[in-house]
Formats: sequence, structure tokens, C-alpha cells
Amino acid sequence: MTQNFYITTPIYYVNGAPHVGHAYTMAAADALARFQRLDGKNVFFLTGTDEHGQKVEAAARAAGQDPQTFTDHIAQGFVDIAARMNISNDDFIRTTQPRHRLAAQAMWQRLEAAGAIYLGKYEGWYAVRDEAFYDEDETALRPDGSRYATASGATVEWVIEPSYFFKLSAFQDQLLTYYGANPNFIAPPTKRNEVMSFVRGGLRDLSISRTSFSWGVPVPGDPQHVMYVWLDALVNYLTAVGYPDEAAEKFALWPANVHLVGKDIIRFHAVYWPAFLMAAGLPLPGQIFVHGWWTIEGEKMSKSLNNAIDIRPLVAEFGLDPLRYFLLREVPFGNDGDFSRKALISRINADLANGLGNLAQRTLSFIAKNAGGMVPSQGAPTPADEALLAQAHALPPKVRGAITRLAFHEALDEIWRLIRAADGYIDHQAPWALKKTDPARMHSVLFTLVAVLRSVAILLQPFMPDTMQRLLDQLGVAADARQIKALDTPLRQGTPLPTPVGLFPRFVEA
Ligand code: MSP
Repeated sequence: MTQNFYITTPIYYVNGAPHVGHAYTMAAADALARFQRLDGKNVFFLTGTDEHGQKVEAAARAAGQDPQTFTDHIAQGFVDIAARMNISNDDFIRTTQPRHRLAAQAMWQRLEAAGAIYLGKYEGWYAVRDEAFYDEDETALRPDGSRYATASGATVEWVIEPSYFFKLSAFQDQLLTYYGANPNFIAPPTKRNEVMSFVRGGLRDLSISRTSFSWGVPVPGDPQHVMYVWLDALVNYLTAVGYPDEAAEKFALWPANVHLVGKDIIRFHAVYWPAFLMAAGLPLPGQIFVHGWWTIEGEKMSKSLNNAIDIRPLVAEFGLDPLRYFLLREVPFGNDGDFSRKALISRINADLANGLGNLAQRTLSFIAKNAGGMVPSQGAPTPADEALLAQAHALPPKVRGAITRLAFHEALDEIWRLIRAADGYIDHQAPWALKKTDPARMHSVLFTLVAVLRSVAILLQPFMPDTMQRLLDQLGVAADARQIKALDTPLRQGTPLPTPVGLFPRFVEA
């Protein structure tokens, strides 16, 4: 039976336009989803928008629009950016959709039936920007007397209102036991440690409804309250697989294999979410993988600095695939990184134009000119051929291993090791010199190079889908032979090849 693989991105707040940070989680999740599909899994890849709450309501008001009109508009921007980034999501959830309201309310009722909810009064600090409650010791005063959350810098305000609470405190031991028994539940390990020490420090019950505004899912049976936006938002992962219809075929996809999240939203995913699911008696996701944040040319991205870069002009200037490559190659997934023009250009030129692009162009244009424009025939392999082919053969499991650990940069690094080895091989074998002296050997060398390029192109599809499609076309690889397992089938000698066209232009700064 085909194995399921369910992967999610966070759902994006619709309070502003999509930027590089948003594009990043999408690109990473997309690479993983595409890899798993190529590896034969039945993938369900979800992204979407988080449309309720005080922050979105305020953004709509600032724009002079009613929240629904406002969110319809901004959500479309996220749908567009996903398409622009060639994201292969299978569904796009919006928390204002009826299916989601139904699921969120059903989840509420289930938590209530489990005795995990009680009515009380919330009195404490709240940061609208983070949509988060903070203990006083998680905040500090600014010189001007205003108070902010130390972790995020967001201003907090004192809130007093009737509120329903979730009995989070009752789940402390169960959570710690779970983290202990499932060491990969939170990754990377530094983040796991952070979460565990936070939970060990004690958990307070969580306010899960608000009464001071109305832009949210009404609490079942008490419509004065709207559900706390994080409870509402987290349920999206269930909504998309058909919850509350647990008999639905789609629901077999639950639990998700991995939720990708940025480091700012780890507490919601690694503490609140598993506690909600435990209370509801639903299975927990396989993993919460936490990635770092990008700064832009060394500075924190922020609306006030106005440097939250729009991804669209970058795509127009550098091309989508080079950008996707850069995001996943430059920084180990899990670490913070800096997005600089200089680093981007240097990756494009060194790795793509001079690296892979040059290898493909050298090989394919030589074949077009000197080997009849078809996949050459292979003679008896020499030790050099065997060594290079063995390296190519060993690549899929290495890439699979790295991608399974979400170490995208390592997967790419392994692929580039093979590219460099192939470069060395061409220089050494010098097919141009064999043209007159030993044409059969020349064909064999070129065959080996085409075989290596096929491995590289197949394995790079998750990262640079369009460009690799073009390369595979140029290599004469049939559309139904581009799965990872197709690498076990030998190349068809004599397959006619189209005229090669360069893949990655060198970027010259004007
Ligand atoms: N709506 C919540 C998520 C709810 S999930 C049930 C939210 N939305 S967000 O739009 O503010 O952020 C979405 C994702 O973008 C988060 O994972 C966040 O970490 C990520 N990023 C936002 N800025 C970023 C960078 N500068 N760099 C990398 N990722 C960044 O949080």
C-alpha cells in the first residue's frame, strides 16, 4: 500500500503582503512534499491563511475595510504567491471557510465534553502582534513606560475580560512524558530542549476565548465569545483532512507527518497543540520541525523598517528556481540566516551557472556536435567510469536521508559533490581529445556523463522543478521516468536528444 505523507506550513496571517519569510516555509515544505512524491508516497501538502483575530481585525480597520473583504483580498495574495513560487500544495485552507468554522467548533465541543474547558476571567498581558498571552516575567518595560514581550519585542496590553480556559496545567506531565518517549517530536534538538524546559517550568491554564472583539469563530453555545485565534488556527490541520468527519477517507491522512514552523511559533505547536489533541483524544503529529529566521542584509525584517522584502521582484530579477535553491542551500534548515544580494548572486554564479549549468552545457553541446545528438553508447567501463557511476548510484539514499532529517542544505551539498566529481571526470577523460583517437571511448565517457546528469536532475526536481524539467527534457528522459526509482533503470542508448539550451545565466551586477 502507498504510504501517506501529510505535511503542512503554518497558515499565514493576512495582515500584510507575503514576504521572504513566508516564501521560505513554503519553499521548504514544497521541496519536502515534492521529494516524497518522487519517492512514491501519497503526499498531502497543506498551506493556507490564518484570517481571524484581533490583529487581522485591526489591519482591516486600518485599511478602512470590513474584515471579510480585507481578508479575501490579502488571502488572494498568498494564493498568488504560492502559485508564483511553484508550490505544489494539494489544498489551500482559509480559516474563514465554512468547513473550518465547523471543524473549529467541533473541536471546541470535543474539548468541552472531555472536561478540559471551564469559564473564568482572564486578567493579564496580551500582545496583539503575536496573538499571545504572556506572564509578567516574560515582559519588560521600555524607557517610555510601555511594556513588551521580551521574546518577540511586541507591545503587550493589560486585558481583563471573561474568558474560557483550557486546562493546560493538567497536561504538564503527559507532555513531558511524550517528549521523553518521542525524541524526534520536536526538532532540531536545541528547540526540543527549549520546549522541555519551558514545560518543566510549569504550565498555566490557557485563555481560549475573547469577548472584546468579534472577528473570530463564535464559541458554541456562548456567542459573546470568539475562540482564541490560536486554537482556531491550529485546528486548520484537522479541517483540511475532513475533521470532524473522522470516517472520511481523507481523515486517514491524520496525524500529519510534519508541521513546519518558524521559531517564533514553537510554543503554540509544540505545547498547546499536542495538549489540545491529547485532551481531544486525537493522535499527535509526527514532528514539529522548527526553522530559523532570515534577516535582510543583516537587519531584522519589519514593517516599520519597510525592508520586509516582497518576493515578486526577486523572482523577476533572478528567476524562481535560483531563488528557491538559494533559500534552501545557503542556510542549514533550523538556523537563522541572512538574505543578502551578494550571497545570492555568488550562489547563482558559482553553483548554478558555473557548476551545474556549465556541466550540462559542456556535455550536451558536445554530444550535439560530436556524438550525433543522441544518448551515446556505453563501452566497457573503466575504473574512473565505475567510480563516478558508483557515486551517482549512492546519491539517492544520501539525499533521502538528508531530506528526511530536513537537512536540505546537506542534500544539496551531496548533489554538488557529484557535480564536482563529474567536472573533474570530464577534465581528466578529455572527450574532445578522444574524438579522433578513440571515438568509442569518447561515447562511453559521454554516456557516463549523461547518466550522472540524469541522477542530478531527478534528485534536484524538488528544489528546482521547472529547470530540472527542462534539463530532463534535454537528457531525453521520458516524463514517466522521472521518479527516484526510475534511476534503477539504465539509460536508453540512442535516444535522440533535443538541441541543448543553457539552464542558468550568469548574473552580472549592473
Ligand atoms: N498565523 C500564524 C501561524 C498559525 S499556524 C497554525 C503566524 N503567521 S505569520 O504569517 O506571522 O508567520 C508565518 C510563518 O512565517 C511563521 O512560521 C514565521 O516564523 C515565518 N516567518 C515570518 N517572518 C520570517 C522571517 N523573517 N524569516 C523566516 N521565517 C519567517 O505566525
